[in-house]
Amino acid sequence: MKLMPSLRILILAILLGFGIDGCQCKVVQFIFGDSLSDVGNNKYLSRSLAQASLPWYGIDFGNGMPNGRFTNGRTVADIIGDNAGLPRPPAFLDPSLTEDVILNDGVNYASGGGGILNETGGYFIQRFSLNKQIALFRGTQQLIINKIGKKAAQEFFQEALYVVALGSNDFINNYLMPVYSDSWKYNDQGFIDYLMETLEGQLRTLHSLGGRQLMVFGLGPMGCIPLQRVLSTSGDCQDRTNKLAISFNQATSKLIDSLSTKLANASFKFGDAYDVVNDVITNPTKYGFINSDSPCCSFGRIRPALTCVPASTLCKDRSKHVFWDEYHPSDSANELIANELIKKFGFLRLNDTNGPSPAPAVAPSPAPAVAPSPKA
Ligand SMILES: *[C@@H]1O[C@H](CO)[C@@H](O)[C@H](O)[C@H]1NC(C)=O
Ligand SMILES: *[C@@H]1O[C@H](CO)[C@@H](O)[C@H](O)[C@H]1NC(C)=O
Ligand SMILES: *[C@@H]1O[C@H](CO)[C@@H](O)[C@H](O)[C@H]1NC(C)=O
Repeated sequence: MKLMPSLRILILAILLGFGIDGCQCKVVQFIFGDSLSDVGNNKYLSRSLAQASLPWYGIDFGNGMPNGRFTNGRTVADIIGDNAGLPRPPAFLDPSLTEDVILNDGVNYASGGGGILNETGGYFIQRFSLNKQIALFRGTQQLIINKIGKKAAQEFFQEALYVVALGSNDFINNYLMPVYSDSWKYNDQGFIDYLMETLEGQLRTLHSLGGRQLMVFGLGPMGCIPLQRVLSTSGDCQDRTNKLAISFNQATSKLIDSLSTKLANASFKFGDAYDVVNDVITNPTKYGFINSDSPCCSFGRIRPALTCVPASTLCKDRSKHVFWDEYHPSDSANELIANELIKKFGFLRLNDTNGPSPAPAVAPSPAPAVAPSPKA
């Protein structure tokens, strides 16, 4: 008698492609972000003015053709995911995205120009705000529930790794630009409070949707991006912009710590690379860079040239420039940032089962030994 139900489960499990020890789902990533993490969504938003669809974007990635990343090579999230042994999630709008792809590789909702706030980046016409990205994630969940059943889906989404990396557009393409009403409605502290309230609601929503292992990336010294430097005749970093990034990071760090203790089973982590990037910008040669103040891909003397275009010229050694274009770090700067974040998040490869120390908290534990009851 006891054998019958388990035998049935075993057969069902085999038929449905599950092992007997639970939803043998892979650990995948769901990435929410802006152009620093976009891997192609904006390419499919045909009216969006935030595009990385022309050469020389992607020149040091794969076949060297533009792939939607706003850099010459890998994003920070690419490098962190690679280091953890996780597959790179495709863009949500990638036409080849299916349920099987989602179950194997996760999804990346990041969109150039997007922010924590709905109104951020409005002048790019099309982009996914964080709220929109979360709405799309709800749709993804429904697809997976329909495919593998509610219980297995719940396990899948609770074991996944979540990345939330937005905020710079809320300053650069909103608060600091007089064309946006937020710039005159708020003062610095008021605006940061508004961002934190909004982000708290968004992170609580992700938790209610199953997000347990979540990493939030902080901001770098965004007053030092080439686009900000050209605002002054001296070409120095914008001090006020940098101070806003520091305040944002402090407030976000506090928010994440508090949510991580308040929300059930949540391992929410915050990390930023502000200090190390600031040091690279001041002392580039110490880190093997030769230029930390102007874009590698530039359009003659026309500055700022908002995008890097086919007519642009490239710097001689792309690995020695901190900035790829007016706004975005190069692949080698992203590697430095990713290594710093990995240190801050304190995790090893998920794969590293024979490592000397046990997997730390952010590494999802293997599936619990519970048989699924799939309702396909
Ligand atoms: C932001 O947009 C979402 C839809 O994407 C909407 O549900 C929400 O109410 C908006 N929030 C604000 C504060 O306007
Ligand atoms: C937290 O984890 C425990 C043990 O795995 C589980 O029983 C409980 O349902 C979880 N709570 C939530 C809200 O996920
Ligand atoms: C673990 O990582 C190694 C490379 O370090 C890779 O060859 C192997 O396929 C990975 N295994 C799993 C289960 O991901």
